[in-house]
Amino acid sequence: MRCSHEGKASIVTGAAGGLGREVGLAIARAGGEVFLVDRNPEGLAQTQALIGEAGGRAHVHVADLSDPDACRRAVEAGRAAMGGIDSLCNVAGVIFFAHATEMSAEQWHKTLAINLSAPFFLCQAAIPHLIERKGAIVNVASSAAFVGQAYVAAYAASKAGLAHLTRSLAMEYVRAPIRINAVAPGGMATPMGATVSMPEGIDMTLVERFSGMRGFVEVPDVADMICYLASDAAQGFHGAVINMDAGITAG
Ligand SMILES: NC(=O)c1ccc[n+]([C@@H]2O[C@H](COP(=O)([O-])OP(=O)(O)OC[C@H]3O[C@@H](n4cnc5c(N)ncnc54)[C@H](O)[C@@H]3O)[C@@H](O)[C@H]2O)c1
Repeated sequence: MRCSHEGKASIVTGAAGGLGREVGLAIARAGGEVFLVDRNPEGLAQTQALIGEAGGRAHVHVADLSDPDACRRAVEAGRAAMGGIDSLCNVAGVIFFAHATEMSAEQWHKTLAINLSAPFFLCQAAIPHLIERKGAIVNVASSAAFVGQAYVAAYAASKAGLAHLTRSLAMEYVRAPIRINAVAPGGMATPMGATVSMPEGIDMTLVERFSGMRGFVEVPDVADMICYLASDAAQGFHGAVINMDAGITAG
């Protein structure tokens, strides 16, 4: 995909592994300096080392993004470390499978805090800096934003909220020099899937409905799309939520 981040600075959340790591790598390979944020210091150090081996430049910042103040501090630290911000990629996310009647208040609030509120508070802090540099925001939603999914009510609600947050911010800033978009991937083979635990008594045929008929979407392909949307090459995109789910939401 045609895309350069030469001379640009990006904040990438969820960068300790999975998709966030690939996004950090993709932007660094495209010439960008990256500020990697996650709650997992070991994973962050590994991503930083991989970027260093690839000849890129990465900073790391450990933060629990479920805390709004930590979101604001992360943006300020990124701006200070890189001298400005050209893009913010909100990749961090969590998922819990549970019967709706058994989902704990803690699981519900944590899902909303990390998947929806954190991107909002990060955007809120970053928008003035991004406007200064004609920059971009890319949020990571999910196919769960578009089709109801059994046993992940909090996750699906958070991702639908994130898709609409993306569109609403895009409208609010439609006259400002900033682009705000989202990617909505289908299932990807990342640590998220490997660590998820299924509750007893679930109907697997309902889960299969949102697993898709073509299998996983490749993580580097999704990372390339995010890297492109975060770059100046994607001038035509604003307020888009791009389905990248190998057909899950097609019908
Ligand atoms: N894996 C999939 O099938 C899939 C499908 C669609 C969308 N997504 C979305 O893609 C994004 C990346 O997911 P992934 O598959 O790479 O998962 P992952 O679990 O591999 O990575 C998520 C990262 O977010 C970090 N994180 C979680 N809570 C945090 C917090 N409170 N503060 C800071 N960092 C935190 C984790 O430490 C981890 O490094 C998520 O937003 C996820 O919802 C994933």
